[in-house]
Amino acid sequence: MELKNDRFLRALARQPVDRTPVWMMRQAGRYLPEYRAIRADAGGFMDLCRNRDLACEVTLQPLERFPMDAAILFSDILTIPDAMGLGLYFETGEGPKFRKTVRSAEDVAALTVPNAERDLDYVMNAVKTIRHELNGRVPLIGFSGSPWTLACYMVEGGSSRDFRHIKTMLYDTPDVMHQLLDTLAESVTDYLNAQIRAGAQAVQIFDTWGGALSTPAYREFSLRYMEQIVAGLMREHEGRRVPVILFTKNGGQWLEDIAAAGSDAVGLDWSTEMSNARARVGHRVALQGNLDPNVLFAHPSAIRAEVARILDSYGQGPGHVFNLGHGISQFTNPDHVTAFVESLHELSPAYHREIALG
Ligand code: CP3
Repeated sequence: MELKNDRFLRALARQPVDRTPVWMMRQAGRYLPEYRAIRADAGGFMDLCRNRDLACEVTLQPLERFPMDAAILFSDILTIPDAMGLGLYFETGEGPKFRKTVRSAEDVAALTVPNAERDLDYVMNAVKTIRHELNGRVPLIGFSGSPWTLACYMVEGGSSRDFRHIKTMLYDTPDVMHQLLDTLAESVTDYLNAQIRAGAQAVQIFDTWGGALSTPAYREFSLRYMEQIVAGLMREHEGRRVPVILFTKNGGQWLEDIAAAGSDAVGLDWSTEMSNARARVGHRVALQGNLDPNVLFAHPSAIRAEVARILDSYGQGPGHVFNLGHGISQFTNPDHVTAFVESLHELSPAYHREIALG
């Protein structure tokens, strides 16, 4: 099926585009009243993820409001540990939790790699339904958490400030830590390949907690496993390249290492300047980012100024996918997202003049 808007895929391939493509991490979610309405009817968040029609509907909601250049599958990174039998649940205001934690060598040894097509069939059904409904409007992004980030939730049993349990495991029993990460890397590879076969046209790996590690620990316990996954992914499907984006929150100081891990693009949070990132790794990967999501709380004129600053920091030419530096806050006014995307549409063509001239 023909893709009507391939700006996002072109930018990831560092090919010329008419304007900078844009999507937002967590673009479907609680900041949209139409999402909250469906979520209230569905029951729980996971009920929403497990229902292909509702998952499809909320995936498309942001596209109905804003002219985004990509859709992202509505699901969660914690579907893999849930499929491993840890019992994912959400308590209002407290974030994700697991009924079972993984703390000992025995706990790790008992884990098995889920069969993505069988145990996570609801995700693949959502991907197929969304692709069908998108009908080539924009590409669909699939995703997973990184092994390290998934392990953080599995070992801690939920969100954590200090990563007490997982860092104890890492430093006391690194072999156990490696065994867990290895099982997760295999699971993520299989899961992302299943999403690609089901119709995901690009994939992003969210390494939300990689930035909590020391430099050597980041290389050994996070980046190494993402590299292993990238090496095991299908990179072509339906006659097109399937690009991979690696996003390590707070990973700016390791950009050279991340860019060497084999992905097509690197996602940046707002702490790294685009110009600096481009000078360091722009010759080998595309860059995605990096508006501070909290800028969207400010007046539209401030939003526009930040969009202008980031476009200017990246500079002329292809290879930039505009995004937030992390997920959008549930307290964001959707009208401010409109202002954000309108500013980008107005300001970004000036950075792609070579192709406008032909
Ligand atoms: O980007 C998108 O629109 C696609 C959907 C998506 C969700 N979660 C939906 C969601 C994606 C890509 C994620 C990734 C995710 N989930 C990450 C990595 C990205 C990041 O933010 O760093 C992480 C760490 C998670 C784990 C998770 N799931 C958290 C921390 C939460 C929030 C819990 C809370 O109560 O605030 C979730 C739940 C979740 N995932 C929601 C959504 C829309 C909110 C659920 C609801 O409706 O109550």
